[in-house]
Amino acid sequence: MLFRCDRHAPEDVPEALDESLNDLQLEYLDLYLIHWPFRVKKGTSTGNAENYVPPDIPATWGAMEKLYDAGKTRAIGVSNFASKKLADLLAVARVPPAVDQVECHPGWQQTKLHSFCQSTGVHLTAYSPLGSPGTSWMSGNVLKAPIIITIAEKLGKTPAQVALRWNLQMGHSMLPKSVSEERIKQNIDVYDWSIPDELLEKFSEIKQVRLLRGNFVVNSHSVYKTHEELWDGEI
Ligand code: A2P
Repeated sequence: MLFRCDRHAPEDVPEALDESLNDLQLEYLDLYLIHWPFRVKKGTSTGNAENYVPPDIPATWGAMEKLYDAGKTRAIGVSNFASKKLADLLAVARVPPAVDQVECHPGWQQTKLHSFCQSTGVHLTAYSPLGSPGTSWMSGNVLKAPIIITIAEKLGKTPAQVALRWNLQMGHSMLPKSVSEERIKQNIDVYDWSIPDELLEKFSEIKQVRLLRGNFVVNSHSVYKTHEELWDGEI
């Protein structure tokens, strides 16, 4: 579960969690994440530049730690944090983030963040692990990359399975989305085979493009005036 960017104020964080528990009819969450490292005024949307106010991640994190202490969530983490923002948080966190959930697929491999997560013990979860093909917000061509198609043909798997298996072999968990029963079954069928090392090496030749650049976050009112600032240069 991620909480909205208008709920960063420490007093709003537990309120947002309680609303979600109520909606879900649950006593606690397994994992609660700060959705983005930016903040908008309470009750406003991210679409309007004037709604942006500076985030105070240490204060928001302090409120998350209290929810963790109280057993309202079994783990706490972040999403869309690049390496420096994650390092800054680790420097002040009493309870280190368990997870950083970020865009990650063979066409945007998060090489730097992957290494940083490995060295600090933060688990990387991949959203858009298929590159969100056919969606208006990302529309990636990962499944059409010639290297993925060739590897899929060699292994007798689909390009989607190869993309998912790559994330798994990198040690990441992933969140593929499908409304098709056949594709959901296909996407789960990635645990009893593997991509051999000589084919895994080929992934380094795939052109790297961040699909979700966060254009809406980069504006005159936001603390992030450039994409480089938003993504700590990982763009
Ligand atoms: P659909 O829901 O019609 O199956 P991501 O998980 O990277 O965000 O990508 C989600 C998109 O990928 C959805 O549009 C989904 O379409 C499509 N998709 C999911 N599984 C597969 C698959 N196995 N092969 C091709 N496309 C897939």
